[in-house]
Amino acid sequence: MAESRLFPENFVWGAAAASYQIEGAAYEDGRGLSVWDMMCRKENAIWNGHTGDVACDHYHRYKEDVQLMQSLGLQGYRLSISWPRVLPEGVGRANEAGLNFYDRLIDELLAAKVTPYVTLFHWDFPYALYARGGWLNPDSPDWFAEYTQVIVDKLSDRVTYWMTLNEPQCFIGLGHRDGIHAPGDKLGWAQVLQAGHHALLAHGKSVQAIRARAKTTPIIGFAPVGVVSIPATESPADIEAARQSMFSVSSKSLWNNTWFSDPVFNKQYPADGLAIFGQDAPQVKSGDMDIIAQPLDFYGCNIYQGTVVKAGVDGKPEVVPFPDGYPQSAFRWWITPECLYWGPRFFWEHHHLPIMITENGISSMDWVAVDGKVHDPGRIDYLQRHLLAFARAGADGVDIRGYFQWSIMDNFEWGEGFKERFGLVYVDYQTQQRITKDSAHWYSEVIRTNGESLR
Ligand code: FCB
Repeated sequence: MAESRLFPENFVWGAAAASYQIEGAAYEDGRGLSVWDMMCRKENAIWNGHTGDVACDHYHRYKEDVQLMQSLGLQGYRLSISWPRVLPEGVGRANEAGLNFYDRLIDELLAAKVTPYVTLFHWDFPYALYARGGWLNPDSPDWFAEYTQVIVDKLSDRVTYWMTLNEPQCFIGLGHRDGIHAPGDKLGWAQVLQAGHHALLAHGKSVQAIRARAKTTPIIGFAPVGVVSIPATESPADIEAARQSMFSVSSKSLWNNTWFSDPVFNKQYPADGLAIFGQDAPQVKSGDMDIIAQPLDFYGCNIYQGTVVKAGVDGKPEVVPFPDGYPQSAFRWWITPECLYWGPRFFWEHHHLPIMITENGISSMDWVAVDGKVHDPGRIDYLQRHLLAFARAGADGVDIRGYFQWSIMDNFEWGEGFKERFGLVYVDYQTQQRITKDSAHWYSEVIRTNGESLR
């Protein structure tokens, strides 16, 4: 009997990037400021004082970049739109030059047979709106809905796949609580959670706006962080403990799956989270949850690593520390390929929505070798292991629809500046030369064989 396929027939093989991380042209063609422009100007906020002013200069080199995607055989490209590039003040006056950039980019992608997957918010929040209170302002959901309309009106004749927010855990938690991402604030929990609530409302209103105005039937999701617990063994008790830990809030932190996803899928904040946050819980007006809980078409998740969990006393989840010398990336993230099995499996069992891996990848110490090429065997090994784990989820009945490697090219890694290289394509930031790494060629073969070359 023939072996069954690793990936379903219509599986989408893609790669991802985000506007501020690659576009550059920060002060050109009428783009307004974003909170990341501001963050990059704060002393000691970004590694070595790097900024996204130029980044990969994708704004000017998008044609070349799309050609690269085409030459690798990418089927999907997850891009994000810079809100202040299209609405310099965040609302009101649209910037035609900015809108036209995305117009041309989408056309270019379609001509190259690369399907665009558009994320509306991957963290470049308009500075003008930050000055009006940012996500703390109760009007912020309407601002986001207005921005959504502008984009949908412009692009939805050609774009079908939409994501609203990327990783609320990060732009709310790291941005408003820890102060290490833009806007760099360190607020009290009550304000942080209120900002998070407004972001959720923004998500809901954005989904409504897309469905109301899209010219082609839209397919909509969002892309939260997938915080994954991996059972220490495959005993039923450890699996149950890992499942419990994936769907609970166990400390005063946003680093979990339920705080942002329960309102979206269950119309309520998780009870354990509400108990932990107590008086700091957000104020929820009547009708808010109906707005937030718009039906979605897929569960997008960004998964890079997992935590190992076992059943401890009374079966309660207990974290198992990594042993000394356990593998890590250049970023010092743990290398735990099973996260791409257990994450998708638990999310599927919990939400019964098709699973898209909207980000997965690794930063490594890449450089141009004497032969002029970039050899990145660590990335190949990482991707191979993770993709096989994802295929196993599919074999076990999880509805797996697509995979977006992070990232198509090295780029501005937020607080780490250009220190971390996540790309399939190497970028020389002095010359803007692109060099396809070994992993890009390898991934291209994975795509060509629909994953069969992973065996
Ligand atoms: C995710 C972000 C993405 C990139 C990767 C490495 O948290 O969504 O922009 O920085 O991490």
